[in-house]
Amino acid sequence: AQTPRAVAREDVFIDVPENNVTEYIYDKIGANLHRKPEHPLCILKSAIMDYFDESYGEGNFTMFDDLCPVVSTYDNFDSVLVPEDHVSRSLNDTYYITSDTVLRCHTSAHQLGLLKQGETRFLVTGDVYRRDSIDATHFPVFHQMEGVRVFSKEETSKSDLTPHELASQELKNTLEGLARHLFGEVELRWVDAYFPFTNPSYELEIFFNGEWLEVLGCGVMEKRILRDATFAEEEAWAFGLGLERLAMVLFGIPDIRLFWTTDERFTKQFKPGMFRSGGVGMQKFKSYSKYPPCYKDVSFWLPNDSSFTENNLCEVVRATAGSLVEEVKLIDEFCNPKTDRVSNCYRITYRSMDRSLTDDEINALQESVRVSLVEEMGVTLR
Ligand code: PHE
Repeated sequence: AQTPRAVAREDVFIDVPENNVTEYIYDKIGANLHRKPEHPLCILKSAIMDYFDESYGEGNFTMFDDLCPVVSTYDNFDSVLVPEDHVSRSLNDTYYITSDTVLRCHTSAHQLGLLKQGETRFLVTGDVYRRDSIDATHFPVFHQMEGVRVFSKEETSKSDLTPHELASQELKNTLEGLARHLFGEVELRWVDAYFPFTNPSYELEIFFNGEWLEVLGCGVMEKRILRDATFAEEEAWAFGLGLERLAMVLFGIPDIRLFWTTDERFTKQFKPGMFRSGGVGMQKFKSYSKYPPCYKDVSFWLPNDSSFTENNLCEVVRATAGSLVEEVKLIDEFCNPKTDRVSNCYRITYRSMDRSLTDDEINALQESVRVSLVEEMGVTLR
């Protein structure tokens, strides 16, 4: 068994202005949920790996699931051609350790490095980190699986199709097969998309439980990346998918925070090998009774310097209330025409996945959130 790579505190909490990693996030590094055989994310990972073993032959794709989530900005952005001014590079969206190291925001950060090591067919599974808003489907740490497949010159020369057509066609066949392996006989559709590292780029959607659900992003890899890896004449495809969202649908898990619970009423419901295509004949997750939510509103004037963002607000709430916060939602906004000042009112929903919360506990949390909002975001409470 591989040992999880630990990331030392002093390697994360570096005293530079860019550093925006909180204790709450640091504590999640090394949890390795995707490598715990009884965990739904690991069960889904295995189901996807099985599909690649079945369709390409066992061991044909190399699996990487212990690559360190601390990567350079070069790997996370430049190596996959993310433009200099792309929003994902902002401190508002990404966790920076220093100005040139981040917590990876996608597993695509490993594409070029693995290609350079000579890998030509591989899957990468790992934890990824994004500053974001808070609700039942968003959590600042989640898991992705990336797949890359390079076509050798020999392979492409045997085909009647151009290398690009060949890659594009196999990409679609392989991923449609993956969607059916996971979801059974469902209606599929391809939607044009944009990623800096693939061209053309697509999203695959399926019609499941009465709605269109995005399953993955993919495309034919930009030539420039292959050239940088000295595959000057090869063609390749790549895809990336979010494991939580698919696991929530397949297993019927209602809240993304449940992936992090150690409550046995959750953990005991998952067993390696339980996965069934489309969930047919599979015991879905049985929700244990939901505990009551508690709503608290907070109203404040924004600082004048436009430093306020919803992601920053969510980070402050997360840092204080941790997994007890279920949703943070803007419910009112107005501008005082005389002073030009903007006021926001946010509703915070607190709810534990595991137990009832007491009024005292919530009031104390809300009070700390209010204090942090003033101290860390410069807002004026109303
Ligand atoms: N990295 C993309 C994302 O996080 C997904 C992706 C991977 C798209 C590979 C295309 C190819 O959204």
